Amino acid sequence: MQGKRILLIVGGGISAYKIPQLVRMIRSAGAAVTPVLTAAGAQFTTPMTLSVLAGEPVHDTLWDRNAEAEIGHIQLSRRADLVVVAPATADLMARMAQGMSGDLASTLLLATDKRVLIAPAMNVRMWDHPATRRNLAQLKADGILTVGPDSGDMACGEHGPGRMAEPEAILEAIRAALSPGPLRGRHVIVTSGPTHEPIDPVRYVANRSSGAQGAAIAAALRDLGARVSFVTGPATVPPPEGVEAIAVETARQMRDAVEAALPADAAVMAAAVADWRVVNGSKQKMKKDGSGRPPALEMAENPDILAWISTAADRPRLVVGFAAETQDVVAHATAKRTRKGCDWIVANDVSPETGIMGGTENAVTLITHTGAEDWPRMSKDAVAARLAARIAEVIA
Ligand code: CTP
Repeated sequence: MQGKRILLIVGGGISAYKIPQLVRMIRSAGAAVTPVLTAAGAQFTTPMTLSVLAGEPVHDTLWDRNAEAEIGHIQLSRRADLVVVAPATADLMARMAQGMSGDLASTLLLATDKRVLIAPAMNVRMWDHPATRRNLAQLKADGILTVGPDSGDMACGEHGPGRMAEPEAILEAIRAALSPGPLRGRHVIVTSGPTHEPIDPVRYVANRSSGAQGAAIAAALRDLGARVSFVTGPATVPPPEGVEAIAVETARQMRDAVEAALPADAAVMAAAVADWRVVNGSKQKMKKDGSGRPPALEMAENPDILAWISTAADRPRLVVGFAAETQDVVAHATAKRTRKGCDWIVANDVSPETGIMGGTENAVTLITHTGAEDWPRMSKDAVAARLAARIAEVIA
């Protein structure tokens, strides 16, 4: 953290009493702190305490004539490497989510192009309120980083989530937010989940993919600093936070979404794409015709997204496919690698007795041009972290 500058916005919550300690810890770790105090924050900690510990003046008004001669609020965020809001009250979060700018803190947050980390702190019912849930989801979608809140006894006498994360945890989150990550500046496309191929407005052909492995891979790549375009079919596992999620239903929509997301440095095709779609489906719900004969569904082959991207004009430098097999896993997957033209294949045995499809663990073999590597059975998160690290070796 040496040489870095943190713009620290202190909101009006009782946990602001811990902020002087956080300021000391940030400075001991080698970073400088520019403190900004909201009017409500000043009710819980004093400008004097913050400025003595930060070794710098506290900024608490948008209407400072001397500072505004140099457009002070823009200067403050320009000088910072990271903006931290602690405690981030329900009110501050709502203002941020709405893009409001009535005071110095909210104006800074709207004017900054730096990464922003918030440490929410509020009463448990305020935290659980649908409005705060909405605001939090919006802030995460905007790329805001969060730390906490913790759960436990609160100053208001209640118990539950809403306590500000401890200063030690906030410091760690600051450290992580400042570290560049090997994939910063890289773009990776990840496909995930099943596709649904409609028969009529209420019926479709699908498969058992939960999307868990694809979501874990997207999260692991994000953790290494990559920008991730996450093209997902109707999965049961929600998309991870901090990725650009693009929801699709059919294989053809998935292909179009992947094409729209190009160019990319790497593509990981973890989706279980339906090989066929129904071509004689109906726009209206199909009815029994009384003859006792079921309708004959006619199918056509879907585009093979992996094979297509492997030969695309703007092919990513690294293309990784998956092979879900139920027998002769390595032989089939090795042949699939050649046939589809991708660089690597992550092969797994999806026979029901393995419990892999829909489960939390995976046992994979990584097939590259040099041969097959068996990885031990581990959690899907661990497979994702290992695969992301290998991808970073190639495209970082
Ligand atoms: N895939 C794809 N588009 C398709 C079908 C599959 O992009 N229309 C991708 C999957 O995302 C996966 C890989 O191809 O990365 C292998 O998928 P799999 O279902 O195992 O292979 P199939 O193409 O169905 O081959 P086979 O019929 O031999 O099992």
